[in-house]
Amino acid sequence: MTSRPEENGKLPLTELGEMAGRGERIVMVTAYDYPSGRLADAAGLDLVLVGDSAAMTVLGHSTTVPATMEEMLMLTRAVTRGAQRPLVIADMPFGSFQVSDEDAVRNAVRFVKEAGADAVKLEGAGPSLSRVAALVGAGIPVMGHLGLTPQSATMLGGFRAQGKTADKARQLLEDALALEAAGCFALVLEAVPAPVAARISERLAIPTIGIGSGAECDGQVLVLHDLLGLYEGRSPRFAKRYAEIGAEIQDALERFAADVRSGAFPTEEHTYAMPDDELERFVSDSTAAPRSRP
Ligand code: KIV
Repeated sequence: MTSRPEENGKLPLTELGEMAGRGERIVMVTAYDYPSGRLADAAGLDLVLVGDSAAMTVLGHSTTVPATMEEMLMLTRAVTRGAQRPLVIADMPFGSFQVSDEDAVRNAVRFVKEAGADAVKLEGAGPSLSRVAALVGAGIPVMGHLGLTPQSATMLGGFRAQGKTADKARQLLEDALALEAAGCFALVLEAVPAPVAARISERLAIPTIGIGSGAECDGQVLVLHDLLGLYEGRSPRFAKRYAEIGAEIQDALERFAADVRSGAFPTEEHTYAMPDDELERFVSDSTAAPRSRP
């Protein structure tokens, strides 16, 4: 897929490798709607991931597994309307790429054509390698995702750190190299011990984006709702909170409810006036017996 960044202001995909080469950290955040896409853009972030974490953060499920193509397409469309400069990466939901390369290409094409995504992300290595090659062959840039891959959390024994033994760490490195060889332009490393992520980052030519994987990755990603304090479940220990928006929203809603109940809202400044003669005419025309309430 080609773009003309000089015309649309989009960060060129090739710039990511150059940033990593210059030692400039790449910043990615998840977003799920127009305002979060717009704010990530305004804040100067490089990458916006429409993560299937949406299943938990915005749709209220307890895992990422239930996210559907239709839901992810709708969220991605909203984000791409808001985020102009950052590359927008659509997360391929569980079931959208596991069955076959053909399915993966068909679904990824929908993200690009129908939702304006710049790239897709998919989890795992093994069978995902041929999916990556098929997608890249179809001209769709792919971000890989290794370590704690939430779609297979049950197989991994839960939401826990991965690669904590020498053998498992070596497997992660081999998988990372294989994903790079298959054509990924970047790789998310989730919940991997920092020294393992550092070694993988050193060995790969493509940038690594860490989440709970230490400071030596080429970039970092956080889930928006963890970062903002908007997720009422327990955030992972690696998620740093930069705000307490959830508490602020609840406080605002409580004050709104109290104002409505006490009659303090609305006041005249929140209402519209009309010419006196028009009002008089309306009152005389509409005078009738009051309707009875149930
Ligand atoms: O779905 C998601 O938000 C993710 C990030 C945690 C990388 O995959």
